[in-house]
Amino acid sequence: MKTAYVLNGPNLNLLGTREPQVYGSQTLGDVETLCREACARHGLALDFRQTNHEGELVTWIHEAGRAQAEGKAAGVILNAGAYTHTSIALHDAIKGAGALVIELHISNVHARESFRHHSYISPAAKAVMAGFGVPGYSLAIGALADMAR
Ligand code: DQA
Repeated sequence: MKTAYVLNGPNLNLLGTREPQVYGSQTLGDVETLCREACARHGLALDFRQTNHEGELVTWIHEAGRAQAEGKAAGVILNAGAYTHTSIALHDAIKGAGALVIELHISNVHARESFRHHSYISPAAKAVMAGFGVPGYSLAIGALADMAR
């Protein structure tokens, strides 16, 4: 069984209380439960993580890329939070690791402030999802399962 890595970046640990009008009222624990159920439906194992540190995300993308090369991982669903808009290191990590990444945002970043309109992740990602709310994680897992088949 292949693993889906779901990697979450800064401030996503605050889901549930953080700007609920933008991100909804579900917690990161709820997101993990939803991902676990979606993975079970699609025959994937789940590795679900969150960090507030950019370098840790870089290291995890390397790890996922190695697992993918060994046939053990389906790929990565990456919500890099604000690092999406700032991090050349994450761009380089995705390319360097050769990881299949679906970039995901809970909110529609293109309907928000202009500083959220640019992503360093998108040019290195296989696909981009934004604005589906928390259920977007479930949709992304279905898409990853299809791509890994
Ligand atoms: C986000 C959008 C980013 O612009 C923001 O910095 C986040 C969350 C989203 O899921 O909508 O932290 O990635």
